[in-house]
Amino acid sequence: MLTKEENDFITRVGPGTPAGEFLRRYWLPVGYPQELTDEQPTRFVRVLGEDLVLWKDKSGNVGLIQDHCAHRGASLMYGRVEERGISCAYHGWLFNTAGDCLECPAEPAGSNFHLTVKIKAYPVRKYIGMYWTYMGPLPAPQIPPYDLWERKDGHRTLILQPQLDANWVQPMENSMDPAHLQILHQTLAFGGRKPESTTRGFTDDVAAFDFYETEYGIIKRRTYRNGHVDEHPVIFPNILRQANATQIRVPIDDEHTKIFFVRFEPTEDGSIVEDEGDPPVIYRPSYKDPAGVLHPYSRFDMQADVQAQDHMAWETQGPITDRSVERLATTDRGIVMYRQMLKREIEKVQMGLDPKCTWRDPSRPTIDTNLQAALDERRDMARARGEIART
Ligand code: FES
Ligand SMILES: [Fe+2]
Repeated sequence: MLTKEENDFITRVGPGTPAGEFLRRYWLPVGYPQELTDEQPTRFVRVLGEDLVLWKDKSGNVGLIQDHCAHRGASLMYGRVEERGISCAYHGWLFNTAGDCLECPAEPAGSNFHLTVKIKAYPVRKYIGMYWTYMGPLPAPQIPPYDLWERKDGHRTLILQPQLDANWVQPMENSMDPAHLQILHQTLAFGGRKPESTTRGFTDDVAAFDFYETEYGIIKRRTYRNGHVDEHPVIFPNILRQANATQIRVPIDDEHTKIFFVRFEPTEDGSIVEDEGDPPVIYRPSYKDPAGVLHPYSRFDMQADVQAQDHMAWETQGPITDRSVERLATTDRGIVMYRQMLKREIEKVQMGLDPKCTWRDPSRPTIDTNLQAALDERRDMARARGEIART
């Protein structure tokens, strides 16, 4: 249980909020290269409660700037993109990707007024087929070299989930909640097995749940009665790695979250993929009907897939779930651990320190989240089902 103040402390993401300032210490994906075309080189994005425009100038530079023009507030999403930058559609004030104003065309000849104008601009980098931004104080840290993102012996696929109309901490807590798999996902995640009791689902398959902290986050571990062990790392603060995918949860604002999946498929013979290009992007359609409408005025398709079931659970908890009335139980101790870590790391930022998972050493080797074990397990299961030949 958390007080309202404690709940606000870990959930709210706007500028100046404790969790908002903390999340601004990490690189966050904000879009895909395919979304900026010659015909439409600008795109509105809201990230951490800030209204921004992602755009590409005719020289190929990509920027992320405030939506409202510094002059009198028209949206720069309608700006005309040129070689030097983006020119506001209203009176032509021209900005570059650094947020400098290069020209105010209607000012008197020789005026240097434009030199006094500056707009908010964040750095953008392209990495594994996505544009990423960093909205915190400079110098920026690295984009972390996690194994699933760095490996060269395979192909990545990118999936954008339908917008989650709920706060980002809800999916993160779900990633520390091992008990729900056997119950919420009993119809879809167990190969057609039928449980004896729909209340218990497959709970009795599990002997123990454990959690432990690592350099990059928290592992939740399920030990099954048949001896099988299943581990999923939460990569702190906003990523789950489950099997061969990372699920990156990026707060749009306090009550909406954008979820980027990155899936990795290794080559069968371990060969290196020289140039992956921009991996394909799959946009998942809404899991609810009507789309974009909040509970209880929409209904989730609970048979669509596992993610749809998760989205149901996360959204129906409320836009920001009220943690002052929850009743945490034994299997929620991973959630408590995650909340404590979040609080500890937010407080570090308040003290002027780098939070966990801030990597600043460019020579740092790839960070091993034990992806290979997950890939081996998947391969062994496919073999057991006869889908691929034994070698
Ligand atoms: S509002 Fe943008 S130039 Fe006037
Ligand atoms: Fe789930």
